Amino acid sequence: MNLSVDLKGITFKNPICTASGTFGDGMLMDQVYDVGQLGAIFAKGTTYEPREGNPPVRMAETASGMLNAVGLQNKGVKYFVENIYPEAIRLGTHIIMNVNGSDREDYIKVAEIANELDHIPAIELNISCPNVKHGGMLFGVSPDAAKDVISAVREVYHKPLIVKLTPNVTDITLMARVAEDAGADAVSLVNTFLGMAVDAERRRPKLSTVTGGLSGPCIKPIALRMVWQVYNAVRIPIVGMGGICTAEDAVEFLLCGARLVQIGTYNFVDPYAPLKIIDGLKAYMARHGIDDVNDLVGALEL
Ligand SMILES: Cc1cc2nc3c(=O)[nH]c(=O)nc-3n(C[C@H](O)[C@H](O)[C@H](O)COP(=O)(O)O)c2cc1C
Repeated sequence: MNLSVDLKGITFKNPICTASGTFGDGMLMDQVYDVGQLGAIFAKGTTYEPREGNPPVRMAETASGMLNAVGLQNKGVKYFVENIYPEAIRLGTHIIMNVNGSDREDYIKVAEIANELDHIPAIELNISCPNVKHGGMLFGVSPDAAKDVISAVREVYHKPLIVKLTPNVTDITLMARVAEDAGADAVSLVNTFLGMAVDAERRRPKLSTVTGGLSGPCIKPIALRMVWQVYNAVRIPIVGMGGICTAEDAVEFLLCGARLVQIGTYNFVDPYAPLKIIDGLKAYMARHGIDDVNDLVGALEL
């Protein structure tokens, strides 16, 4: 049974990865189980300068999901290179850096540094974070701004470039085409949906930032729809995510056209979920007589 997939010359041992911001950089979880079994770890977002993120409260539970307003808390790219990189590359799977910036120059500077990291085979360019005042989603909702930052990063980054799209747009296919035309080698989708939660007793928003990013099972049908639309709109590979909790969920994303999938919020519910999903995927393939996982990609029958 072949579980491996290729993305622009990178071989992933299986299509099951963990989503940025929900699995740290893999080191902590490696004390719990061998994270080398995963297809890849998409590391927590990295910016050029360290960021403290937003003040508390920055998490709120919702029906079948969660709102977060972490705001890209991280120790900056220098710390990543000196402390995270040397450890993370020993984990036995691909570490994909999640690149962020407050402005175009920040994205370029982080991408230039990532380009020099031999053991980081690709970056995920996050133009979709809804929880920052500058940069992030502001790039991802504007075709012109997205084109500008992706093209600029493309010039300095010479390995596979995965652009992470925001679902907070009217037409996700437009943004996927912009990414493809600007030189992206793949798109990943979706980041979180802009939402809010209210404490009626206190008449106040639950999050310090008022709005936050909604993720988890509640977003899965919308994420699936977007993956399917993008699959039919571009030729570059898709990394799909949004509410995946089970192997069946992962298979649904593959059928809709994702070549790799990421498990995000569900890691907080069951940290073993990615491993269970790999086993469940194998069981699904055995049950359906499928020898090669690639045969599932885009195989939705209409
Ligand atoms: C607490 C938290 C932190 C996140 N941080 C990042 C981040 O740093 N960069 C990024 O691209 N996405 C980030 N995301 C978005 C996830 O990677 C993923 O796109 C989203 O949560 C949808 O998948 P899910 O429903 O499986 O969680 C974060 C999500 C959560 C819940």
